[in-house]
Formats: sequence, structure tokens, C-alpha cells
Amino acid sequence: MAKLAIYGGEPVRQAPWPAWPRPETAARATELAARALTSGKWAGDGPMEQEFATRFAALQGAQHGVCVSSGTTALQTALEAAGIGFGDEVIVPGMTWIATASAVLSTNGVPVFAELDPQTFCLDPGAAAGAITPRTKAIIPVHVFGTMADMDAINDLAARHHLAVIEDAAHAHGSQWRAPDGAVRGAGALGLAGCFSFQASKSLSAGEGGIVLTDDGDFADRCWSYRNVGRARREGQPSVLGFNYRLSEVQAATLLAGLETLEGELATRDANGQYLNRRLAQIPGIHPARRDPRVVRQAYYGYIFAYDPLAWDGVPRSRFLQAIKAEGVQAGGGFPPVYRMDYWRVRKERFPAAARYDPTSPDYQEPNLPVTERLALEQQVTLPHSQLLGTREDVEDIARAVEKLYHRRAELTQQPAVAIA
Ligand SMILES: Cc1ncc(COP(=O)(O)O)c(C=O)c1O
Repeated sequence: MAKLAIYGGEPVRQAPWPAWPRPETAARATELAARALTSGKWAGDGPMEQEFATRFAALQGAQHGVCVSSGTTALQTALEAAGIGFGDEVIVPGMTWIATASAVLSTNGVPVFAELDPQTFCLDPGAAAGAITPRTKAIIPVHVFGTMADMDAINDLAARHHLAVIEDAAHAHGSQWRAPDGAVRGAGALGLAGCFSFQASKSLSAGEGGIVLTDDGDFADRCWSYRNVGRARREGQPSVLGFNYRLSEVQAATLLAGLETLEGELATRDANGQYLNRRLAQIPGIHPARRDPRVVRQAYYGYIFAYDPLAWDGVPRSRFLQAIKAEGVQAGGGFPPVYRMDYWRVRKERFPAAARYDPTSPDYQEPNLPVTERLALEQQVTLPHSQLLGTREDVEDIARAVEKLYHRRAELTQQPAVAIA
């Protein structure tokens, strides 16, 4: 087998990967954005925003959609609308983007980190059950990189304890789940609310943006008010203290352009993802995240697998990543545990209810989540979703690169790597 690219050999993959955002989407978005700009209505429940909210809610199977400025503000809005406030505990997975937890802080609530299911990398419902206290008010499962959390178990748990379920579906545009009644519902339409991000790297994007989905009309009205500075949406409704978390018509136009091709992209990524699951599962020490049989369609924000250094003669993940990048495959580690992120700096003066996360506080508690730590810090490998947008031959290059590294793993333990870009 050919010399490793990290030592100057020929990379398995030399051709470029599909570009993201796609140039075709950019061209269509330019057309629609021009229409928005010449319409005279640039923001404020404009026709494009309304059309997008209706169509996206329908895609995921929810009754209502309220557009907001980001995935972060979607979470903040949903938490506010759910009435989360001072000292209320909200269970979140230990590994996710910081916004899942910081949105809880922003309500003066307390994020409580719970352990991951080692196979799906998503919140473990059993661990969530163990994290419930009399102060728990909500659970935020995160469909991380598109792999879905066990929503049946989480909804059962929430129903037994009267907790709100707010899905963080920032990675799951188009994911579908078969509910216990046999109905197929989209991610973000399985709990009280679902929060999506349309930030630049997402599989449906406006550069920035977000949406909250729900089936509850009153909840949707509260979200609308909160993201609209607190104005009452309808006659007779109360106004509240809110913020400006609105979306503009140009952003809505960009999202409508993305929606036109989303179904096709979802089908391509899902087929390629399943192919890669089969191929990579044959390689020792490579464990693709489990696709639950109730997942009808998996949307990918990233393709994730656990890399087990023990099956690779101890080659650490950092070295594996260096070597696979040299072979022309884009890859990274994913998120560190939230409570180990550089910017997880919780000050007790600012967030008194969450003083347990301020290292200078006498109440400080170090979260103890060994599965989260192992996956996030040692094992998770994440490939960007654009690498699943090509042909079967394109994804076969990923499998071939991993196989090549596995067969020559001894060299990765012994020789220093040549510098790579
Ligand atoms: C899991 C998760 N939740 C929430 C967010 C927040 O979304 P945004 O960046 O649009 O604020 C992100 C962003 O990447 C995310 O990955």
C-alpha cells in the first residue's frame, strides 16, 4: 500500500470536495435577495420570512415557526417562552456547542450537564433521569451533528416529571424520527419546541439566523413577542420584556434559496452517510455513531465516528487527524465538553444561580462525565457535511484513506510527521 501522505506519499484524495455553501445556492439567493431588497420591505414579518417559516415548519412537521437571529437566540427565546427563570435547572448534554448551556445561563437558569450515550454521542436518557432534581424544569436534547437523541425515552421522562423538552436541532435540518404511534416527525417537532441555527456552516444557512418550531400556538406567540422586543403579538395579549432577535428579508431570501435544494442534498448525504457507516464499521477501532432504527432520515451537520486509539497501537487521535488531513480528507475532533471550553467562564456575580460553575465559588462542582470526556477529548472524529455531498466514489475516498492509515498505523507511532499545511 502507498506511502502515507504525511511522510510525503501521494494523498488518497487530491480532487477538491464539494464547496459549501454551494455556488448554485449562492446564485439563486442573489436573485431572491435582490427581490427582497427591491420590495420595499426589508424586515419585520415580511413575505419571505413568513413563507420561509411556514415552509420550514411544514418540512419538520411542526405547526408554527418563529424566525430569529441565530440558533443561540432561538434557544434563549424558547427557554424564555417556556418560563425558565432564576435557579431553574435545565438538563443539557455534556458535549455540545456552548450555546446550548449559555442560553440557559442567560435566563438565570442553571444548565446541568448529563452524560452522553456512547453510541449516539447524544444525551443519554438514563443519565438525564439521574440528573433530575426538584428544581429541574426542562431538558435540551441535542441532535449532535445530526445523529438523533432517543426522543421517545426523553419525552417519556419529561412527561413523568412535567418537564419541558426543547430540542436543540441546530444540526438537524431535515432529520426525521418515527414516533411510537408510527408517525414520522421531524427533529425539532418532537417536544415543546425545536431550535435551529442557520449560521454559515449549517446545512441550511443564511450566514446567520435561526428559528423556533412548536405546535403550541400560545408558545409561538410568546416566542414572537420575546424576539420582537416584547411587543404583544395579538390584541389582548400581554407585552413582555424582550429583545430584538429578528431576521431580515435578505436572510429569509437566502434561506428560501437553500430550501429549494435541501431535499436533494439530504437524500445524497443520508445515502452517503449510510454507505460510510457500512464501510468504516469494517475497520478496527472505527465506530460510526449509531443511527437509531427510528431515524427515518438523518440530516448531517457532520459525519461522526469514535476512533479508538487502543485498536490503532496507541496512535492518538491528534496524530490520526494529522494523517487523514494529509490524505486529503477534511476532519476535526468536534466539540470539547462545554465545561472545559475556553470561554466557559461562569462568574458567580453575573450568574448567581449557577455559582457551581465558578471555580472561585465555594459551591464549585466539577462535572464528572467520563463518557463525554472520552468521546470529546480522545475519540470523536468529525467530517464536515460537504464531504457527503458528492458521489459514492467521493465518500469511498474517505474509507480508503482510513484503511490506508490503519494498515500503516505502525509508522504513525514510530516516525515524526513531516510538516503539513
Ligand atoms: C448544537 C448547537 N446549538 C446551538 C448553536 C447556536 O447557533 P448559532 O451559532 O446560530 O447561534 C450551535 C451553533 O453552531 C450549535 O452547534
